[in-house]
Amino acid sequence: MTNTPKSIPASTLVFGASGLIGGAAARHLKDVSPQTRLRLVTSREKKAAQLRARFPDSEVIVADYLDLPGMIRAFDGMEGAFVVTPDFLDETAAMINVVAAARHAGTLKHLVRVTGDPSSVHTEDDVPLNLRAFDGGTAIQHVRARKVIDSARLPVTYLNIAAYLMSDFTRLFYRSLVNERTLLVPYDRTMAFIDDRDVGRAGACLLLSTNGHHLGKVYQLDNGHDLMTFREAAAVLGEVLGEPIAYDDSVERYVRSFGPLAEGKDVKLRYFLQYMEWERGASTIWRRSDILETLTGTRGGTLRAWIAENRAALLGEAPNSEEKVPA
Ligand SMILES: NC(=O)c1ccc[n+]([C@@H]2O[C@H](COP(=O)([O-])OP(=O)(O)OC[C@H]3O[C@@H](n4cnc5c(N)ncnc54)[C@H](OP(=O)(O)O)[C@@H]3O)[C@@H](O)[C@H]2O)c1
Repeated sequence: MTNTPKSIPASTLVFGASGLIGGAAARHLKDVSPQTRLRLVTSREKKAAQLRARFPDSEVIVADYLDLPGMIRAFDGMEGAFVVTPDFLDETAAMINVVAAARHAGTLKHLVRVTGDPSSVHTEDDVPLNLRAFDGGTAIQHVRARKVIDSARLPVTYLNIAAYLMSDFTRLFYRSLVNERTLLVPYDRTMAFIDDRDVGRAGACLLLSTNGHHLGKVYQLDNGHDLMTFREAAAVLGEVLGEPIAYDDSVERYVRSFGPLAEGKDVKLRYFLQYMEWERGASTIWRRSDILETLTGTRGGTLRAWIAENRAALLGEAPNSEEKVPA
């Protein structure tokens, strides 16, 4: 027990509840604390029915970070909030709305915010100029989000994903895996990996914790197991899938592979390439730590287990609704 307790929110708002991370947070809150009143958010009307079917006892609403009246309705009466955002969101505008809505409600006790920065990034000045020139995107959006939330002094804990999400293999890297049995990731580098569901689970555990020392902290989240280069990740894919998976870090092939998909929207493709090159320079900072076990009491899922679970999708033998391309 801690000598700085915090109360467990009696009600919690979960953004991204139809997604892998927010969905896992909602599921864990529901399973471990059925008495917590959940308000689940999607920004897309078409996902609301699906969400209601998955969580029939919980309230489901449609709200968008960029729409203040909707955010005010979302935060109304809520004591807890789990906030996960998509890449390339205008975080300054979004978090200004979060702060305004939380203040309007006046009930917020704990907000868990998911971010995704290399641990060496504290302000925009830590990001190279070529990436800052895009004026958005993952290299600077989380820094901007923290700036707004911190200056409002919200009761926050940051879960900074210091890893690649395993779902990247069925999203960003999916097409060449299925079509060419090749992991196509330019600028090979050491990276940590984490199951998306463990991020959501960690967020739920923080909200359900009575330890007040979590407030104001930034936790660098990895799965405690997997730290390897993408070339090594391709070898693990091959071993678990039972089929050779090649690795190629050629920029030209990456552009060829994603070029047609990115037609007319090549800014994001250029952005991703420059981001990955920058990440190569950060190869030494990723860690295999015990943070997930510390926060949740259990160890994280391994990359091998995740590949085995998603075998059919990764081999193109089952539909994959997750695919995401950089455009
Ligand atoms: N990919 C990686 O390897 C990686 C690594 C480190 C950190 N991260 C970070 O992890 C976070 C999650 O990444 P992800 O790829 O899982 O994100 P994502 O699925 O694209 O988006 C996260 C959630 O945000 C919700 N959302 C989207 N637009 C919204 C809006 N305008 N208003 C309210 N909710 C909205 C989505 O749910 P609805 O569509 O239902 O609203 C979705 O479930 C990002 O911040 C990313 O930068 C990713």
